[in-house]
Amino acid sequence: TTHPDIEPSRLTVTATTSPRQLPPSSKLLFGRTFSDHMLRIPWAESTGWGAPAIEPFSTLNLSPAAVVFHYAQALFEGMKAYRRPDGAATMFRPDMNMKRMNDSAERLALPTFNGDALIECMRQLISLERDWIPKEPGHSLYIRPTMIGTNGTLGVQPPTEALLFVICSPVGPYYPQGFKPVALYGTTDEEYIRTAPGGTGAFKVAANYAPGVVAQKAATKVGYVQNLWLHGPEHWLTEVGTMNLFVVFKGEDGVTELVTPPLDGMILPGVTRDSILALARRHASGGKQLQGLPSLLKVSERPVNMGEIIAASQAGRLVELFGAGTAAVVSPVDKIGYRGSDIIIPTGEDGMGPVSRPLWKELVGIQTGEIASEWNFVV
Ligand code: COI
Repeated sequence: TTHPDIEPSRLTVTATTSPRQLPPSSKLLFGRTFSDHMLRIPWAESTGWGAPAIEPFSTLNLSPAAVVFHYAQALFEGMKAYRRPDGAATMFRPDMNMKRMNDSAERLALPTFNGDALIECMRQLISLERDWIPKEPGHSLYIRPTMIGTNGTLGVQPPTEALLFVICSPVGPYYPQGFKPVALYGTTDEEYIRTAPGGTGAFKVAANYAPGVVAQKAATKVGYVQNLWLHGPEHWLTEVGTMNLFVVFKGEDGVTELVTPPLDGMILPGVTRDSILALARRHASGGKQLQGLPSLLKVSERPVNMGEIIAASQAGRLVELFGAGTAAVVSPVDKIGYRGSDIIIPTGEDGMGPVSRPLWKELVGIQTGEIASEWNFVV
């Protein structure tokens, strides 16, 4: 049997009768305010994807036996829409999020779908919500596509019913006071573990995030802000809090190396991660030169462990370390607490470093539409 996929031509729109106002941008805290409308698309094993509906933002009505509450059949995406100086609304590389969302769905035995069809439904949602996209620099509309298993059964098995929904939240810059470097606590698997080979670290499933909260709380208690997730007895660096991670070394040969761990099954394939790699590689291979970025640049996806970090730090060859994600874009690190002492990481006056700064500038320029790029999808 072939069941219907998501079908944008079946989309219905029910506008709210009580529209609200976008709060002043200075009052926006990450993920607290939501726009007037949401998108809902139901799925059932017997009938496939139902008609997409844009409706007023409202509560969900679910059975307390719904599988999502018991066995965490839940996945999500994070993306942003921007308001270009010419007034157009854009999304950034939505195809990447659709691919990852389908990969996550497959991992949880939730239904997959046509990513272009969901992009078209989201395009109509964002178009309706365009006044919810704050215009100030560094502001955007954070978009949260989510999928949950909804059938009420306590059997552990593939969900037979699901709901895909998309909500939107106007957000300001993650660091309203400018880049504030964060101190990381090196968390090893003797304390807490984020993921392991064969686990779900490479997928954006809700269950990856809940267990990290106590680990972050423990890091806060001893004076740090986020976890540096270290894997295995060699203490391989994997991720920072909920972000991908980049390290910059200055080689003895004078070459600057930008390193991020490879997508080995434990690393989330971040859109910001991929974009930073692409911009750095373009520069390194003689394409568009980013001002301030060293011309002798090597870009590596390779494992890096704490032994290498310590050796580079002692040799004065550790240039910078930063997290990368959709929410914060770039998050510089100034310290790693590890085995009872602190490794100090250089940061510039603006909090950033010589490699992250030009890459951040280019990336944000593209996202906001000041720099033309194929990565922007015009709504
Ligand atoms: C990110 O964008 O960096 C994220 O991981 C989303 C976060 C709010 C869970």
